[in-house]
Amino acid sequence: MKKDIIVLGIETSCDETSASVVKNGKTVMSNVIYSQIDIHKKFGGVVPEIASRNHIEAIGKVVKEALDEASINLDKVDVVAATYGPGLVGALLVGLSYGKALAYGKGIPFVGVNHIEGHISANYLDGDFEPPFICLIASGGHSHIVFVKDYGEYEVLGRTVDDAAGEAFDKVARALGLGYPGGPKIDEISKKGDPYKYNFPKSFMEKDNFDFSFSGLKTAVINQLHKEKQKGSQIDIADYAASFQMNVVDVLTSKLIEAAKYKNINKISIAGGVASNSLLREKLSRLASEEGFMLHYPKQIYCTDNGAMIASAGYFDYISGKVSGLDLNAIPYLKLF
Ligand code: KG4
Ligand code: ZN
Repeated sequence: MKKDIIVLGIETSCDETSASVVKNGKTVMSNVIYSQIDIHKKFGGVVPEIASRNHIEAIGKVVKEALDEASINLDKVDVVAATYGPGLVGALLVGLSYGKALAYGKGIPFVGVNHIEGHISANYLDGDFEPPFICLIASGGHSHIVFVKDYGEYEVLGRTVDDAAGEAFDKVARALGLGYPGGPKIDEISKKGDPYKYNFPKSFMEKDNFDFSFSGLKTAVINQLHKEKQKGSQIDIADYAASFQMNVVDVLTSKLIEAAKYKNINKISIAGGVASNSLLREKLSRLASEEGFMLHYPKQIYCTDNGAMIASAGYFDYISGKVSGLDLNAIPYLKLF
């Protein structure tokens, strides 16, 4: 019988310190997430220096908790995987250095994981979803449409040329006075708003263009808001949020569906923090069933940053022979390839 491979995954690229134990790339034995959102909230966004310091304070406890919850100790871990980019360099270095040190101390292989590949691999957790599929990754730092040909084999079909989808949610939420992180706040308040009140512009909607641009939309929302404020009009924030959200969801869903048609692939999936958006899920489910696509979502907890997705990506890298040297450095602007 094939031996099980246990991977300890570590994620510290932004404001979550997370560690997880995953068996054979799919079975999550533990997934501990310490979120710093409450600390950064008062600054209206993530403060890199504060994030690094908090990762340093948390990492030891988070890793120990992940091992305890999985009822194993380090001797049972076969591979250590940690995110090495993209992300905040000081934050990345904490998890990366910790992971490399653990692997060195135990004499086991170390795998550096691309964070975007981690988000894609969240689709493999606790289930049997497999490539090939087309994946939309929409998070605070990234918006990509990727053709996942096989485990670890990607073709990027489109990416954002400016703001990521989550970044647009966060910036618009800030302009509307909704606080950080903006995505969940806009999601919630939009339920009370009229999504047809404002017709904001959409970018790159021509056929077979899978790139995104959200900065024009963000500016249009902010300009409209200023105009109405100057006129002294009655402003309903919920209408702004709902109109903005519908615009982003329309763009993301139509590009994902068009990309799947373009590649003639009938499986689609979404990942990243924005994948928890309720309108996005609702609309994509409807479109997928109308168009006959099989749609897969990672569980909500695997959509935002977590160690389990890193462990899964690390596992598939490891079994295909991709092991990293202990001289691997953090790469803040790492691309998918
Ligand atoms: O994947 P993630 O945890 O971190 C990055 O890798 O960036 O994504 C965080 C992003 C934030 O911009 C947050 O506002 C957004 O995901 N987000 C949402 C929702 N929940 C989180 N955006 C829209 N609707 C949501 N429900
Ligand atoms: Zn992320």
